[in-house]
Amino acid sequence: MNTVKTVRELRAAVARARSEGKRIAFVPTMGNLHSGHVALVTKAAQRADFVVTSIFVNPLQFGAGEDLDKYPRTLAADQEKLLQAGCHLLFAPSVEEMYPDGMAGQTRVSVPQLSEGLCGASRPGHFEGVATVVSKLFNMVQPDLAVFGQKDFQQLAVIRALVHDLNMPIQIIGEPTVRAEDGLALSSRNGFLSPEQRAVAPVVYRSLSCIAEAIRQGQRDFPALVAEQVTQLEAAGLRPDYLEIRQARTLRPATPEDRDLVILVAAFLGTTRLIDNLHLDLDAA
Ligand code: PAF
Repeated sequence: MNTVKTVRELRAAVARARSEGKRIAFVPTMGNLHSGHVALVTKAAQRADFVVTSIFVNPLQFGAGEDLDKYPRTLAADQEKLLQAGCHLLFAPSVEEMYPDGMAGQTRVSVPQLSEGLCGASRPGHFEGVATVVSKLFNMVQPDLAVFGQKDFQQLAVIRALVHDLNMPIQIIGEPTVRAEDGLALSSRNGFLSPEQRAVAPVVYRSLSCIAEAIRQGQRDFPALVAEQVTQLEAAGLRPDYLEIRQARTLRPATPEDRDLVILVAAFLGTTRLIDNLHLDLDAA
């Protein structure tokens, strides 16, 4: 596996693979890779002949006071994991390479509606930063397909929308969330949790599962279901940012008649913000 740091080298390597008739898959990441990322790369390797992964902690998607500076950077360990997972090319650019003219004048990509509410409400500008960097990376790599985790459900919806709206010929694949045995969704931010917090954290997925089970049993009083689990999260010492039941496709608030639902949560445990979701399609077998 080759590691390149410039757009020029990236384009040259991808062009070589293309000239050999290879199908190109792309997995954008911010590094500090765990089994969830490895699953994305493995899926990419199953679907294409040449897998490109990027590692770039994108300042444009972090708000003031967020964890940009302390976001873990673990390039050597990441390279090892990517090699094992079947990645062919790692693109690990600097901030200057990605934003040579600075960020203030950078053209932005914004996806209205889907970016509003949920994480968009508490992280203003976040999805614009994500949509902008993903658009740039897509233009640099020009992959046939790209793989993203379903753990970032709203992000995945935003990326599907931008690819559709900007007519990008890229197939977007969403991979299921990888969880620890106790249900906690794997995340680079889990490393910020103390052992005591880590022991409490699975309550997030338990709350989602309780709501899903109640809906499967026929309960449709969504506000009551949510209120009950907010109480559970608070009792466990978390500070919920949101817990909502939405339509899975549009992310609009769900009505009791809707069948394809997603339950989404963000909650602080100390200073660490955990997010998770559970897709519940009542018509699926
Ligand atoms: O999900 C992430 O790791 C990031 O938001 C992404 C998609 C790599 C864009 O920086």
